[in-house]
Amino acid sequence: MTNNNPSVMIQANNLSKNFSGMHALKGASLSVERGEVVCLIGPSGSGKSTFLRCIHGLEKPDGGEVYLEGKLLDPKNKEEYRALRNKMGFVFQHFNLFPNLTVLENCTFAQMQVLKRTQEEATENALSYLGKVGLLEKKDSYPNNLSGGQKQRVAIARALCMNPEIMLFDEPTSALDPEMIKEVLEVIQELAAQGMTMIVVTHEMGFARKVGTKIVFLEAGHVIEEANSEEFFTAPKSDRAKEFLSKVIYD
Ligand SMILES: Nc1ncnc2c1ncn2[C@@H]1O[C@H](COP(=O)(O)OP(=O)(O)O)[C@@H](O)[C@H]1O
Ligand SMILES: [Mg+2]
Repeated sequence: MTNNNPSVMIQANNLSKNFSGMHALKGASLSVERGEVVCLIGPSGSGKSTFLRCIHGLEKPDGGEVYLEGKLLDPKNKEEYRALRNKMGFVFQHFNLFPNLTVLENCTFAQMQVLKRTQEEATENALSYLGKVGLLEKKDSYPNNLSGGQKQRVAIARALCMNPEIMLFDEPTSALDPEMIKEVLEVIQELAAQGMTMIVVTHEMGFARKVGTKIVFLEAGHVIEEANSEEFFTAPKSDRAKEFLSKVIYD
């Protein structure tokens, strides 16, 4: 099954997800064009992580479909499903680095296991991305010896090593001390400037306004509002988005 619009990278249609009777997602849809930075915002518990995880396949939606570059993500179609999922990089709030592997090994592991690259190829690629996130000198360190900001930059480099077509970030700065937020957001902004397509769940409204091309506002498992970022922040349409912004933006 296909869905043909070549500029659309991700099309999520009517996704729903229940957790033992709790409706976390109630028919949420989203489309992401190539090169877009979609920021997913909304109150805590509104289903942002579930939405992102269902798009990636980390959670299996109970209903709805996800298309990547026009192809349906269908777990029954094992080979294609795996190949499509490999086109998506995922960055977690809590980094999820392997604690027993060095920074470099964290970045080469999946390249060798999943993409079957040689150690040489994987290492070369990893060093290039570690350089891009400014962490080359930490290549032999273990995650426990890094700051939160450094851990998250490693997690971003690790995801980039898989050469994804799109990056998904789930509150990448929420677990960080305040002084480390910027270094991570700058890396993400730089990626956006280079044309990477992404979906970013974030509470950083300054970032969403500046870097986001589209804002999707979620509440109670529904997409309440979708708008370009300037429009959303200057003239939100729904009362719920207005109320949310009045609570989270201090000015
Ligand atoms: N694995 C899970 N098991 C049970 N309930 C969950 C699970 N994941 C999320 N939920 C529930 O689903 C709702 C949406 O959660 P989530 O997607 O994490 O929201 P957000 O990321 O917007 O804070 C919440 O009520 C949460 O408690
Ligand atoms: Mg969340």
